Amino acid sequence: MDNKKIVLSGIRPTGQLHLGNYLGALSNFVKMQNEGKYDSYYFIADLHALTTNPDPKELHTNVRHILAEYLAAGLDPEKSTIFVQSDVPEVSEMYLLLNMHVGIGELMRTAAFKDKARKALGITAPTQGDDDEDVAKEIIGASTNKRVNAGLLTYPTLMAVDILIQRADFVPVGKDQEQHLELTRRFARRFNSFYKTEYFKEPQNFNFGSAPVKVPGLDGSGKMGKSEGNCIYLVDDEKTIRKKVMRAVTDGGPTEPNQPMAEPVQNLFTILKLVGTPDKVEFFTEAYNNCSIRYGDLKKEIAEDIVAMTTPIRERILDIENDDAYLHRVLEMGAERARARAGKTLADVREIMGITKF
Ligand code: TRP
Repeated sequence: MDNKKIVLSGIRPTGQLHLGNYLGALSNFVKMQNEGKYDSYYFIADLHALTTNPDPKELHTNVRHILAEYLAAGLDPEKSTIFVQSDVPEVSEMYLLLNMHVGIGELMRTAAFKDKARKALGITAPTQGDDDEDVAKEIIGASTNKRVNAGLLTYPTLMAVDILIQRADFVPVGKDQEQHLELTRRFARRFNSFYKTEYFKEPQNFNFGSAPVKVPGLDGSGKMGKSEGNCIYLVDDEKTIRKKVMRAVTDGGPTEPNQPMAEPVQNLFTILKLVGTPDKVEFFTEAYNNCSIRYGDLKKEIAEDIVAMTTPIRERILDIENDDAYLHRVLEMGAERARARAGKTLADVREIMGITKF
């Protein structure tokens, strides 16, 4: 094995990937892979998806979608280790072991848990103040027939194991996952200090050397997400893309030269910067500033640029998605490599914890 640093990231298979996932993360994974500076591990976190109790058929289909999308976007099983989390049973065993050093209090205080617990219990977020206690009371009090499953609580343990079992150096994730990464570092330190070892190193987030790319949505505010009317999927066909972009929210248009842009308009310009050429950006900025802009033209340009970017990917997705033999081969290869590394870590961890053979 060479001494390249390890990069690892996972994605929960909850739906198809959109342009925000592609520009914000996936395209960078591909770039890093092709630079060859790192040893990369990209996986589909199907066990994490179970925390929200998906329909079994849908879960399986979603794993297939994401895998095809990873490959279509340019992740190469010869260069990166591409695998499904549940194909590495070592992860599940180490999850049990690491849980012995994780506090239920710290798990209950993570933002993602509180959010999902609230949803499961059907309570709305407080407009102010800290709701730790409310959520805790509701969960322990069992005053309803709703429940928050234990898997949801221990989600951060499982994520920490994903990272630590491959002894990753860098974990490219978005802001919403930073708290989970912080917990991973805390668990690593705790394990080390409890067993008086330096076994785990602390993984760091990774920004691809520049500011993270945030792709805005089409509905006027916030970032691109899965909500209705807000996102373009990589598998959307040309007609759908055009329709969605033409419906994007704008305003009544500038009435004075150099007027500041409202958020929905700013968002369209941000998207144009990501998918279009600098001269188009300049052209439409100038048109905005001298009040001659027609939003219809801007949207047409954006739609065509997105179509040009995603059409080749879409065609590959559709090809790959139906090629069971290829998908099988890719995952077999990925599982073998991921298990080799995970198996070594698990054996060490068992030994450190005193689970040793007679
Ligand atoms: N929790 C991450 C998310 O929702 C997915 C994930 C699971 C992950 N395990 C990981 C990301 C390990 C990075 C590393 O996006």
